Amino acid sequence: MNIREPETGSRVLRGQSVRLGVCLHAIACAVIIFSSLNLATLTRADESDEVAIALSLAKMLQAGRQVISSKQALINDPDRGDKGLTGDVVLAAAIENYKKATGIDPRSISASSRRGRLLQSEMAAIKEVVDENQRFINEKGVAFKGFIPAIFARLVTERLDEKIGTDVLIKVTAPPQLVRNRKSRPDKWERTVIEEKFLAPDWTRGRIFYQVEPNQGRDALRVMVPEYYTASCLSCHGEKTGEVDITGYPKEGASEGDLGGVISITLFRQQQ
Ligand code: HEC
Repeated sequence: MNIREPETGSRVLRGQSVRLGVCLHAIACAVIIFSSLNLATLTRADESDEVAIALSLAKMLQAGRQVISSKQALINDPDRGDKGLTGDVVLAAAIENYKKATGIDPRSISASSRRGRLLQSEMAAIKEVVDENQRFINEKGVAFKGFIPAIFARLVTERLDEKIGTDVLIKVTAPPQLVRNRKSRPDKWERTVIEEKFLAPDWTRGRIFYQVEPNQGRDALRVMVPEYYTASCLSCHGEKTGEVDITGYPKEGASEGDLGGVISITLFRQQQ
């Protein structure tokens, strides 16, 4: 069974890409809420740089997830063993998606810059997660294997945490009542941003939020990127509320256009 409609799924992600792509190009993105600096040593330009880095990392996660979404029918094909969907193949497609969305080849960003270094770690995490799941992806005789975009994304963020968690954290979270995996529950600050900003009736759809805000007791810039449900999400997250979906979770009864989740990025600042 085709649990996602790849075409619809990628159209959605592309819609988000455009918005992020615009932000990436215009460093002082007009839709961003400016927060006051509390570290005298950092200038407004440094902060814009940090936001741009965070958005690049979110974009790469979306680019990877988009590949898993568009290959969902292949992954779920019970008749095919080797699917040829190796870490290298998925990463190459993710890089293409990223380039389409931003106009930038992520491999061309020097690893001597923070953005280049973090992006390279994220790309390595994407490749590793896919390589480590070959046994599931290539399993014959099983249709639904549970290798879906949300799980892929969580595995990538967890791998990134192991690699460079003292520098950056990425987490896909959601409004508290929607959270499926306990690991993805919003912390207090994320919850406040979700409830008081993203769910406010006058919040402009798609607008990001960022703030200088400590995380794990360390100075950090934190960036929140909202994501919305589309038709392709509703086979699992839609009606009927409580009915069990293909993954074994009860459906949330959500509607198209509802806030479905948030990519939350923490960029730690060096201790002074
Ligand atoms: C095949 C069913 C399925 C579809 C389709 C699906 N999801 Fe999910 N989603 C899940 C499962 C299962 C999890 C829990 C993953 C985990 O264990 O981390 C999840 C987790 C999430 C999370 C992370 C927070 C949490 O609840 O743990 C977000 C955000 C999310 N989904 C949004 C979406 C959006 C947006 C779409 C459509 C673009 C979508 N999902 C499509 C099944 C699905």
